[in-house]
Formats: sequence, C-alpha cells, structure tokens
Amino acid sequence: MSSNVLLDLKNVSKVFGTNHVLKQIDLQIERGKFITFLGPSGCGKTTLLRSIAGFYTIDEGEIRIDGQIVNDLPPYKRGTPMVFQEYALFPHMTVFDNVAYGLDIQKRPEAEVQDRVKSAMAKVKLTGLEERYPHEMSGGQQQRVAMARALVMNSPIILLDEPLSNLDAKLREEVRVELRNIQLELGLTVIYVTHDQLEALSMSDYIVVFNKGAIDQYGTPHEIYYKPRTPYVADFIGTTNFVDAVVREVDGSKATVEYDAEHGLTTSVNSDEAVTLGEKVLLSIRPESMRINKPEIGDFIMKGFVKSSMFLGEKERYFILDDNMKEWIVDAYDIGHIRFEGNVTLSAAADKIHLIKIS
Ligand SMILES: Nc1ncnc2c1ncn2[C@@H]1O[C@H](COP(=O)(O)OP(=O)(O)OP(=O)(O)O)[C@@H](O)[C@H]1O
Ligand SMILES: [Mg+2]
Repeated sequence: MSSNVLLDLKNVSKVFGTNHVLKQIDLQIERGKFITFLGPSGCGKTTLLRSIAGFYTIDEGEIRIDGQIVNDLPPYKRGTPMVFQEYALFPHMTVFDNVAYGLDIQKRPEAEVQDRVKSAMAKVKLTGLEERYPHEMSGGQQQRVAMARALVMNSPIILLDEPLSNLDAKLREEVRVELRNIQLELGLTVIYVTHDQLEALSMSDYIVVFNKGAIDQYGTPHEIYYKPRTPYVADFIGTTNFVDAVVREVDGSKATVEYDAEHGLTTSVNSDEAVTLGEKVLLSIRPESMRINKPEIGDFIMKGFVKSSMFLGEKERYFILDDNMKEWIVDAYDIGHIRFEGNVTLSAAADKIHLIKIS
C-alpha cells in the first residue's frame, strides 16, 4: 500500500437495529489533504466519523490508520480526536485547561503539558489568551481553542463534525478561511463534515458525497460540480438543468445525443464514461453555462419564453419555459441594463454539457 494513504476504509458497514446506516464504504484518504463529507441530514456522515474515531464499532469491514487495522482500538488509542458541532469547551475551565484536557487524561508530565499547550496555542494564533474563560472569547476564537485541543494531541487526523454550524454567516466565512489556512500551514489531514455545499466546494481538496449511507462520488470540488457522476450529485450540488436524451452516435469520448425527438434536435457532448447507441442518458447543464440569445455559441439550442427573473447581485437569474412548459434556469452575468423578455433562444456549448449515465 502506498504510504501516502493515511486512512483506508474497506467495505465499512454499520447497522443500527434494522437501519443500515453505512453501506460498504470504500474510501482512501491521503496524508495532508482536506477532505469533506457532504450530504443531507441523516445520510450517515456523523456515523462514519464516529466509526473512524472509535466511538462506534463497525459491523463489517476494515478501518486502517497508517497501515494499522484499528477496528478494535478504543478512541484514545486511535489518535483521531474529534471536534464536535457544539464545540464543547468546558465553560468553567480556562482556555489553557481546555486545551490541556486530553494530555491531562493521559497524565503527561507537567512540563510537557506546558510545552505542548503553548505550541498548540501559537499554531492557532491565540498566544496570550490562556487564562481567559470560553465566555470571554468570540465564537471564532472558541472555535480555534477547539482546534488547539485537537492539535495538542499531535494526531495524524483531525475529525471535524459541522464545527461552524452555530456561528453566524459572516464569522462562519472567516473561520472557514482560518481553518483551511491552519490545515495548509501545518500539513494536517482533516476530515470535515458539513451539509453546506458552498463550504464543501470552497475548503476541500476532495469531497465525498454521501447518498443514504453510500458514497455516490469522491472527487475534487471541480469534478463534483462540473462532472457529477449521478443525478443525485448534480442535483445536490448547486443548481442544474436536467435534460433527457438518447445517444445517437459515439466517437471515442465524444457522443452525439438527441434531446428533442419532436424537432430532431441533437448536440455533441463530451462523455467521460462509455455509452452505447440508443442508450438513454441525462444531460446536466449549469445555469451559468447557458446563454440567452447567443445561438452562435451553442451546440445545444432550445427555444423558450421568459417567465420571470430575479436579481441576485452579480447575476440575473432567468426562469424560462420551453414549448413543453419545462422550466430552465439560466444565469446572465454582467449584462448591465439589458433585460431579456418574451421569446428567447437558449444555447450551451458542447464542453459545458455534462452527460450522466442513468442506470
Ligand atoms: N446511536 C444511534 N442509534 C440509532 N440510530 C442512529 C444513531 N446515530 C445515528 N442513527 C441513525 O443513523 C442515520 C444516520 O445518522 P447520522 O447522525 O450519521 O447522520 P448525519 O449525516 O450526520 O446527519 P446530520 O447532517 O443531520 O448530522 C440516521 O437515520 C440516524 O437516525
Ligand atoms: Mg451529523
């Protein structure tokens, strides 16, 4: 096994009663990466994190950390501290004592505790605030104390379960940037859980998209966004237009698909996966990948009329109905005073159309 793989999950399953919460999870995580578990409420993110940390025993499969099987190791022997959603600082303890907590449990010598806490506090830029109490610090600072508490353990992996969910939007964004900077600076391996897609896209090296206890896709933020492998992923991340189509020609990684049988309309698309003649597929076209009244850029063309539009600051979002009353969402950027009304032509270039296999 490559030594770059720090965490290796094979066929991991977890059942609560009759509820099959994790279904044969296979996942390899490289050292020094920021990985995000993304998925809707109840899909098993926390369960997998707790299984990695050792708070749950899995029913099937294997968890390896640095090559060693840890299935039967208790949490404190796995070296995978978790930072929870409610970052659970002890309110009656000073910041120093909060950070030192894990080391005190291990009964480390006093001098070592002093050194390690000092160094962890410096890493999160909180030097000098050791004697404060949590309520005397801002939400962002408290979050960094929680990070310091994980860092002080010198662990190979840090697990963060929705750590920002109780911060307000502005602070959330700040702490998000800070977290990512700390991770990059220290070369940490971080697994971060969220159901916020923007958070996932902006922070991660890789995103794992969960669908009911299974992994639908593992990829970089760009892959997840522009090359979703399943309709579920395309729908969950961002907004997209789905189009039913049938494969009419295949030429290597290029295909021609018919998306409007009535008018015999076809478009070429790039296909990462093998498709066959006559196969039914789904096309996904992002709102920002479509143009209004610019048919010359399009392989894909669709006529419609503007139902409504919405000003969103950097863009105008149009809701457009085609002949079959299907609604299309198209974003127009930086168009100044131009407003589209009435009958319009929508278009998209072949390289902006993503083909998804249905079965
Ligand atoms: N200790 C438990 N006992 C029984 N069922 C549980 C337990 N923990 C979680 N579950 C169930 O397992 C499923 C997955 O829960 P989990 O907490 O992993 O979801 P999640 O993806 O973290 O969701 P959220 O985004 O809401 O935190 C849910 O159906 C939940 O009810
Ligand atoms: Mg959870």
